[in-house]
Amino acid sequence: RIEDGRRVFDLTAAPGVHEFRPGIATDTIGINTTFLGPLLAARAGDRLRMNVTNGIGEPMTLHWHGLHLPAAADGGPHQEIAPGAVWSPEFDLMQKAGTFWFHGHQHEKTGAHVWAGMAGVLRVTDDEEAALPLPRTYGEDDFTLVLQDRRFDANGQMPYAMNMHDRMAGMQGDVMLVNGQTSPVLAVDAPLIRLRILNGANGTFYGLHFADNRTFHQIASDGGLLTAPVPMQGTILSPGERGEYLVDVSDGAAAMLRAETFGAEVAMMGTTGTPDVMEIRPRSARPAPTLPARLADVPPPPDATGEDRRFDLAMTGMGMMGDFTINGRRFDHSRIDFTVPLGATETWTWTNTTPMLHPMHIHDVQFRILSRNGQPPAPQETGLKDTVLIRPQETVALRLSFADYADPIHPYMYHCHILEHEDAGMMGQFTVV
Ligand code: C2O
Ligand code: CU
Ligand code: CU
Repeated sequence: RIEDGRRVFDLTAAPGVHEFRPGIATDTIGINTTFLGPLLAARAGDRLRMNVTNGIGEPMTLHWHGLHLPAAADGGPHQEIAPGAVWSPEFDLMQKAGTFWFHGHQHEKTGAHVWAGMAGVLRVTDDEEAALPLPRTYGEDDFTLVLQDRRFDANGQMPYAMNMHDRMAGMQGDVMLVNGQTSPVLAVDAPLIRLRILNGANGTFYGLHFADNRTFHQIASDGGLLTAPVPMQGTILSPGERGEYLVDVSDGAAAMLRAETFGAEVAMMGTTGTPDVMEIRPRSARPAPTLPARLADVPPPPDATGEDRRFDLAMTGMGMMGDFTINGRRFDHSRIDFTVPLGATETWTWTNTTPMLHPMHIHDVQFRILSRNGQPPAPQETGLKDTVLIRPQETVALRLSFADYADPIHPYMYHCHILEHEDAGMMGQFTVV
């Protein structure tokens, strides 16, 4: 709905009952529906107004993951919405075309709220993307997939009940969901299709590939298009990350998308399975258009003008109670960890001394990856990112620019996007002033 030149979205989070499997009713939280939320669509440059109603009966927040916006509009743990209240942030959509998302971010409840279904996708378009010969007809050749996994009990419920292992590795399930559905089949007429995939899991990494190992192309990372399509036969999507992929189904043969699943402790425990995710079933064979050789102009990372900051990811007490720290500290809601001067371009270097994987996410910015263990990033990691996988013993350097929005009071978050790590305190906060 457009109102006074603003694009207005009315979002109500409320308890729901969802049928993940026929005839089995599961209690959930949905946003305007019974599980997850509507696909929001907007154009870069739009002024957005979000009317978020809390109908879940306990405090919640709703965070716009990946968006550059004022801290007070961010929807992190400091923008709590009381039960029954409406929160109405308004901000300019200052993004490139891409696939963004939103999810609950209540202090120490992010894992529980997202597990229950409090998340959705925001699809952003712009002129640059619209000028490219890419599939973009929603529901015909352009599909948005939220990948998650859940664990159901004997009553068909999915209680957020963590055991020791879940606390350490993050919540994982044995049932794969795509947009809240099990074993979907996607029948298509188009020979070339675009999949916008969000890893919306609490703690599961997905090693995406096709059963026949066909080559597909990644065209966008978290914050927008890459410079050119990147051919691949498989890729890892960490919790919180998005990727857009082109899949050629011109031969008319069914293509089974699969995910090798694993948790943060993969180095010790190995992978947990290789479930089918979704079958793509072309109705006919027909020639596919050729892929554009170039996509977007992604300039090289900007030069640093400000601080070099170091972030040491560590674990104490075997991580048994989720004792994960950043620079030796757990999250403290009332402590601002540091302040960034408005306009600065900084280098943030992350070192992981734990034996686990941590996908680190930073609010407010789309950053660039400078290096992994001193090596340049892989082609699919050269674009705009807001979440980056940091493996055990890795050192990853990022370049980030903090522009436009200063606020001495309201902080932005940085945290591990394994939601159980975040809720256990693997998070910090900074202000931009
Ligand atoms: Cu996707 Cu701080 O979150
Ligand atoms: Cu975020
Ligand atoms: Cu982590």
